[in-house]
Amino acid sequence: MQTIHPQRSRALLTGILLCVVCLGAAVAADGPTFEDTLGQRLKACTQCHGDQGRAAPDGYYPRIAGKPAGYLYNQMKHFQRGERRYDLMTKMVDPLSDDYLWEISRYFSALDVPYSPPVPSTASVETMRRGERLAMQGDASRQLPACAACHGAQLTGTTPATPGLLGLPRDYINAQMGAWRTGARRGAQPDCMADIARRMKPEDIASVSTWLSSQPWPANTRTPAQSATTPPLKCGSHAQAQERP
Ligand code: HEC
Ligand code: HEC
Repeated sequence: MQTIHPQRSRALLTGILLCVVCLGAAVAADGPTFEDTLGQRLKACTQCHGDQGRAAPDGYYPRIAGKPAGYLYNQMKHFQRGERRYDLMTKMVDPLSDDYLWEISRYFSALDVPYSPPVPSTASVETMRRGERLAMQGDASRQLPACAACHGAQLTGTTPATPGLLGLPRDYINAQMGAWRTGARRGAQPDCMADIARRMKPEDIASVSTWLSSQPWPANTRTPAQSATTPPLKCGSHAQAQERP
């Protein structure tokens, strides 16, 4: 996992502690100009996740805008239960009810904000080909399904709970795959992504993350572009996303 810059962390924390009070919802408006909208309250989140949740420029804080609502909801449950670990995230979502988590998830999921342009890759042609092959076709000889089989033919995500794989920084993809391999990131059982990450060699992960992060988000495509077809492995996250209150 990556480490957070201590200075940035301290500055953020001050802002967040001021802002986290607003998340409690029962904010007494102390001035006639204060607008208590959900967008205002969720400023606590966008301090890290970037303007309107479009991701911070340094690539460390993931985009949350436009991801399937079921996916966002599941992740916040995973932070609450310690199945994903990042202390400040856990502190933010710990006190929130399931209803409120759904409201937040729908809010960010509906935001259609532009994606940053992809980072051109300097990787070898061989690495890029291998990455593309794994993403689009998988490797049947090792029972590795194509990423596209679940993440959508355009890799822009599927409903109810599978996020797109384009528009994510390479380091973020590598960190998440690594966390699934070691068990630091877990999801609803059966945890299909843990199985997939463990079937991949480190070179597979490196080539697929390099290829994915160099692809542009297709024009005029919103997330999630499609609803899920039958996945090649069972993913518990689908059922969990449907347990909505
Ligand atoms: C202190 C910075 C910080 C704040 C404030 C913060 N987050 Fe996060 N959040 C992160 C980091 C870092 C990650 C990724 C952690 C990891 O690598 O697993 C994350 C991950 C997430 C994810 C999973 C994203 C994905 O694609 O898997 C969601 C959803 C999320 N945050 C929602 C929120 C919401 C909603 C709020 C406000 C209530 C919030 N965050 C506030 C830092 C923050
Ligand atoms: C069997 C279906 C399936 C296949 C095949 C699959 N994924 Fe996933 N993937 C998922 C699901 C479901 C999630 C959400 C997991 C969760 O909520 O814990 C996910 C989440 C992810 C995430 C997290 C994204 C984020 O924003 O944090 C990454 C990265 C990822 N997958 C990469 C891949 C790659 C790379 C491949 C191909 C090598 C792949 N996946 C193949 C179902 C699949």
